[in-house]
Amino acid sequence: MPAWLADQPTFAETQAELNTDLAAGEATYAVCSSCHGLNAEGNKALHAPGLANMEQRVYEASVEALQAWCPRCS
Ligand code: HEC
Repeated sequence: MPAWLADQPTFAETQAELNTDLAAGEATYAVCSSCHGLNAEGNKALHAPGLANMEQRVYEASVEALQAWCPRCS
């Protein structure tokens, strides 16, 4: 195996490095909750959108991008 290739992490190693720390996320979100709401419901008075459905919105945005790029694909 060439040296540069031996230096690359395996897929398993890249996954092991991910550490999803939910407690840390919750603490970080305290900063955001003042505008976006404690449960990410949003705040109309501040024009802060709800964040709870972001995954769905990102999915819809990428479906739209696909349809724009390739109208016959879906
Ligand atoms: C000072 C109030 C305030 C704070 C604090 C704040 N936001 Fe926002 N955020 C807003 C407003 C207002 C918008 C809408 C901006 C716009 O539409 O131009 C927004 C938009 C967003 C959006 C885009 C949502 C969408 O539907 O397009 C995301 C994602 C977001 N904020 C995440 C966060 C996160 C994560 C934090 C904490 C790290 C945070 N915000 C902290 C006021 C705030």
